[in-house]
Amino acid sequence: MDVILIAAVTQDGFIARQENEITSWTKDLWLFKKQTMGFPVIMGSNTWSCIKTELKNRKVIVIHRNDVAKQVLSKISSKKCFVAGGGRTNAKFFNELTHLYLTPHPLLFGSGVRLFHNAKEELKLSQEKIVPVDEKAAIYQYQYKIIRTAKKCPQ
Ligand SMILES: NC(=O)c1ccc[n+]([C@@H]2O[C@H](COP(=O)([O-])OP(=O)(O)OC[C@H]3O[C@@H](n4cnc5c(N)ncnc54)[C@H](OP(=O)(O)O)[C@@H]3O)[C@@H](O)[C@H]2O)c1
Repeated sequence: MDVILIAAVTQDGFIARQENEITSWTKDLWLFKKQTMGFPVIMGSNTWSCIKTELKNRKVIVIHRNDVAKQVLSKISSKKCFVAGGGRTNAKFFNELTHLYLTPHPLLFGSGVRLFHNAKEELKLSQEKIVPVDEKAAIYQYQYKIIRTAKKCPQ
């Protein structure tokens, strides 16, 4: 099964200013809705509380601190599913991800919720596709396949 992390990010790698932000700065919600339609969407409880009104007609799996990524995925019988944040949930599913769909936005937050909370491992990515999000603003979604050959960063 493809396990696809999908996120809007700032140029300095943040997905929100704080853990309960309604991310109204993102331009890619329309694409998120289109791409995730018909597939399970996994998200953490903080993200669910920020976005639930936007996700009608979708199977959303809300993740809590005691959930284990492999166990959650073993119950899904779909050719793909999406991991849709936040930073803690992305980190929990880090080892299971097969693809990243990232939409960098022309913003710098300086601090906030990182794409992966406390991630320390290096991964190589192979670019597969670029999808226009807002061409006037030069915002594109970059789709990558994850290549799992990298070693851990030296501390
Ligand atoms: N830009 C984007 O594309 C994008 C996408 C998604 C989310 N976001 C933003 O990301 C932010 C939320 O990210 P997040 O990382 O805070 O939350 P999250 O991943 O959505 O949810 C928090 C998860 O971590 C668990 N948790 C909470 N405190 C913990 C602790 N001390 N130790 C271990 N686990 C703990 C929670 O479990 P319990 O339920 O048991 O507390 C829950 O599973 C929001 O601002 C949201 O808007 C942005």
